[in-house]
Amino acid sequence: MVQDKAIRDRLSSLRDEIDLHNYRYYVLDAPSIPDAEYDRLFRELQQLEAEYPEYVTPDSPTQRVGGRVLDAFDPVRHAVPMLSIRTETDIGDSGAIAFDARIRRELGQPDALIEYACELKFDGLAINLRYERGVLVQAATRGDGETGEDVTQNVRTIHAIPLHLKDCFAEVLEVRGEVYMARRDFERYNEKQRAQGLPTLVNPRNGAAGSIRQLDPGVAAQRPLSFFAYGLGEVRGWELPATHSAVLDALENLGLPVNEERAVVQGAQGLVGFYRRIAAKRDSLPFDIDGVVYKVNSLPLQAKLGFVTREPRWAVAHKYPAEEQMTRLNGIEVQVGRTGKLTPVAKLDPVFVGGTTVSNATLHNLFELRRKKVRIGDRVIVRRAGDVIPEVVGRVPDTSVGYRHNFLMPKQCPVCGSKVVREKGSIEHRCTGGLFCAAQRKQALLHFAGRRAMDIDGLGDKLVEQLVEKGMVHTAADLYHLDMAELAGLDRMGAKSARNLLDAIEASKKTTLSRFIYALGIRHVGESTANELAHHFGSMENLKSAGFDDLTGVQDIGPVVAQSIIDFLGEPHNDQVIDALLESGIRPEAREAIKDFRNNISGKTFVLTGTLLAYTRDEAKGKIESLGGKVTGSVSAKTDYVVAGEDPGSKYEKALALGIKILGETDFVELISQSNLESK
Ligand code: IVH
Repeated sequence: MVQDKAIRDRLSSLRDEIDLHNYRYYVLDAPSIPDAEYDRLFRELQQLEAEYPEYVTPDSPTQRVGGRVLDAFDPVRHAVPMLSIRTETDIGDSGAIAFDARIRRELGQPDALIEYACELKFDGLAINLRYERGVLVQAATRGDGETGEDVTQNVRTIHAIPLHLKDCFAEVLEVRGEVYMARRDFERYNEKQRAQGLPTLVNPRNGAAGSIRQLDPGVAAQRPLSFFAYGLGEVRGWELPATHSAVLDALENLGLPVNEERAVVQGAQGLVGFYRRIAAKRDSLPFDIDGVVYKVNSLPLQAKLGFVTREPRWAVAHKYPAEEQMTRLNGIEVQVGRTGKLTPVAKLDPVFVGGTTVSNATLHNLFELRRKKVRIGDRVIVRRAGDVIPEVVGRVPDTSVGYRHNFLMPKQCPVCGSKVVREKGSIEHRCTGGLFCAAQRKQALLHFAGRRAMDIDGLGDKLVEQLVEKGMVHTAADLYHLDMAELAGLDRMGAKSARNLLDAIEASKKTTLSRFIYALGIRHVGESTANELAHHFGSMENLKSAGFDDLTGVQDIGPVVAQSIIDFLGEPHNDQVIDALLESGIRPEAREAIKDFRNNISGKTFVLTGTLLAYTRDEAKGKIESLGGKVTGSVSAKTDYVVAGEDPGSKYEKALALGIKILGETDFVELISQSNLESK
């Protein structure tokens, strides 16, 4: 019996721990422990649950995957209909002004200053989440607004959606929001698919909608989906606040993801301001939006305004220009990349899409091009969203039937004339010229100097072109031997820019190991792999002497990547370049490892101040006490740690004055997880 309790306690503390890390990672976007640590906790929970299946709870983090394959989705009748939203057709500021004028008219208060809640209009799929006594019991699509489909199994695989709410025991709380796919996740997913010659997703919206409607939850679980809450459905036993903005705040406090780009504004002026502010940052948002949404903030006023057919009078969507457009494909050019990969690039009739004029767009590779059945002369759909490279996503289904391609990959590199090959099993064509090929040399240098690599400011396209054409730079190491006299001879290069460039080159010598590894441009070694390698090996020397097994032992590194690293480092030419780079004074520093708290919580005295995001005061206290620590109410010389959340009070000041160690929430969470591991 005693043993039993110990197991249940451990299960529950593991679940809390994992839920917290999920929340920090997927909702707050602020992970607090390394992936390996998370995996360890997760495995322990899985093992313990396998041993004691009677203690598996439906809201355990292990229960996100593994449902059965369905024949069809069950219909779900919505307790409260899921409405759609009117779209303001007036473009520009007048859309916002017209909406505000209508609201004041309909309220019979022509001179009132109305308060609005402004939000983003996420471009995904609307979902209703039903929580009963705080536990997620059902998720449904909108369907026709009256009846949707039961997609609970698939929605459970979305980590940003809590399987249970924080401190909420309302009889029923239905949360409505949008399931979406972030641009980065969409890109990564497609890249992975493309590399394997598998079908890609057309755009993030289709990605989200298609994934949710997969009958096999295993497939849905592979798709990187996220969620933002924006409203409520049926509510029983939960006190409604007076405004929509307060509802969103409350949902956030329950642990649901609510997008931070929201605002409460006054009148038409406020709406216009929001519309413009978001327009300016639309490109840099991590996900697609197709507009913004304005809602009358007061819930009583919303009730007064009511509905017309399926649409509330109190809300409107104000759209931005589309991120997909139709245009004509006039030709296909072949570009040679850093690793020799040939990319077919579409030459288009210029078209305004996603805020800029696009006349080139990638077609990725020959297989993609054929799969999309794209031909020169076709009308095609071009997509440009955020700072992602514009791409042709497909052709407009037209009258011509029976696809016959009219483009072939060249047999010789269009830049250096070397043979073009396609390795067995690969979908990529590549130039065999290596660094003999000027295109590859240029791309390698541009990559090396890139912002995320060595970050050499001012070393752009045109300059690299000249340096390579004039034979001044053959490898990255040559950059570090350039001098004023040489640079002065280049086109459009004044003394000042030459000086700036040399300074930037000098400054790049101080860098991190992970940037340096990434800058080398090893095939298959992107930023995150470079990061893993840097963490794991700690120095270039160690990396160089790593064998195949050492490499595959690193997180996320499989045999293909490992072999590519070995091939690259084993090539004498590359070895020379690396040595020359290091000799020229580059000092790649290995970042310090994750902070190490060896001292436990046990026996230590804590004081809590301010609001923590992940814990309530009582939960934090419980955690500390369960690990053998003590929590007191006031700061004194005997206090070991002060944990400071948001808006800390005078205790924080006092801790500063007494020189007591202050932990931010991240430090605190880390300390707990470290201590948890050590107390095992
Ligand atoms: S509110 C009663 N807010 O837009 C109003 N909808 O037709 C109900 N959408 O597919 C919707 N972002 O999923 C609302 N911040 C937001 C939204 C949003 C996206 C979608 C919604 C639905 C469509 C509305």
